[in-house]
Amino acid sequence: MAGRRDGLLARSNGSPSRGSRIAMAVAVGVLLGCVCAFLYPDGLFRSFSTLPSHGQDSAADWSLGNSAKCETSERTNVLKSELASLSQKNEDLKKQVMELTTKLKLAEQGKDQAQNQFVALGERRKAGPFGTVKSLRTNPTVVLDESVNPRLAKILEKVAVRKELIVALANSNVKDMLELWFQNIQRVGIPNYLVVALDDEIERFCNSSKVPVYRRNPDEGIDSIGRSGGNHAVSGLKFRILREFLQLGYSVLLSDVDIIYLQNPFDHLYRDSDVESMSDGHNNMTAYGYDDVFDEPSMGWARYAHTMRIWVYNSGFFYIRPTFPSIELLDRVADRLARQKSWDQAVFNEELFFPSHPGYEGLHASKRTMDMYLFMNSKVLFKTVRKDAHLRRLKPVIVHVNYHPEKFARMKAVVDFFVNGKQDALDPFPDGSRY
Ligand SMILES: *[C@@H]1O[C@H](CO)[C@@H](O)[C@H](O)[C@H]1NC(C)=O
Ligand SMILES: *[C@@H]1O[C@H](CO)[C@@H](O)[C@H](O)[C@H]1NC(C)=O
Repeated sequence: MAGRRDGLLARSNGSPSRGSRIAMAVAVGVLLGCVCAFLYPDGLFRSFSTLPSHGQDSAADWSLGNSAKCETSERTNVLKSELASLSQKNEDLKKQVMELTTKLKLAEQGKDQAQNQFVALGERRKAGPFGTVKSLRTNPTVVLDESVNPRLAKILEKVAVRKELIVALANSNVKDMLELWFQNIQRVGIPNYLVVALDDEIERFCNSSKVPVYRRNPDEGIDSIGRSGGNHAVSGLKFRILREFLQLGYSVLLSDVDIIYLQNPFDHLYRDSDVESMSDGHNNMTAYGYDDVFDEPSMGWARYAHTMRIWVYNSGFFYIRPTFPSIELLDRVADRLARQKSWDQAVFNEELFFPSHPGYEGLHASKRTMDMYLFMNSKVLFKTVRKDAHLRRLKPVIVHVNYHPEKFARMKAVVDFFVNGKQDALDPFPDGSRY
């Protein structure tokens, strides 16, 4: 273990140690020169030629014994100043070597570019006193680009409020849930929402229900996925379609259709992060993060390993601001879903949370977990809230029936309980699913 660690250190510091070795060699050379000049002011070879022929020890005696009488103080001063200027030159050389080494290292790691990016973002400032420092988490929005999709830009101009809106993707498999979804949105009085119809039936249905709908042109390649694709393919499509909304300068509250709206979510957002998402967690720890201590008794003194844990963000309900990290997130998720068969929510969370490490560049988007009681998942509702006299009186902003397969029945029960005041509406359902 120790050996491996040393090896790593040596490798990661390779260039600076090479640089300082050069500097050391230069320094030693210059120093030797100075000593020689001091000891043999008339030249090395002449001094040696005057040496008595009986060995090294007397040579030392000779130089000590003679230095006082054969040097003038003027000569000493000249030598001293030469020494000073030489060591100054040596310092300069050292600095140059150091600078070169640093530049080389930065270039190797591509950090120059990152530094430029950072400088472009804002003026460099001093840190200021203790406790007053805040880092950047609200990234600047991208410059909007209408040319990406002029038709969508027109629709969004009409639908969005303050440049933000709810967006849901739907095909005819989820028609019943979609209807319940927009009925509750309309009941709460939310004007800024849009259905992205993945087939004609849903577009017609929205048209006839006076629901704002956007249907992509059939010749825009990815739509064939939306018509025929299973859940997996549609998940990837979602991230690609969202990208255009962000490029057009809008913040999107992406919403699955198995969600009941009880208040206007736009009154409950912080808007300070690239991604603000509801959690799959079910209590303070799991939703907001905790130290999960892993115990390995065979390690003795070091048996406890501390691990950082948080339950995943729900990729079926999140607010995303039009920033570079956000768009990079969508691209990374869409790209991975196109290349591998994975659960989109797992990919979404991995891209959001995994840090940079050897061979991998992390995303570094800022993120915020929504209040788990205001943006409530169905585990919180059925496992905890409905059994707690105090929590039962809460009024969530939304309830997402994400944890249960009999979605439509539970969605109707949620409406009965929170909207129609039917106190026993949630009772027939078990905490989890029936199998
Ligand atoms: C829905 O309405 C739009 C706008 O009025 C129209 O262009 C479109 O053809 C309609 N779609 C369907 C499937 O009826
Ligand atoms: C969870 O955290 C909130 C806010 O910090 C606190 O008020 C509440 O009591 C906590 N709940 C539990 C069960 O610990």
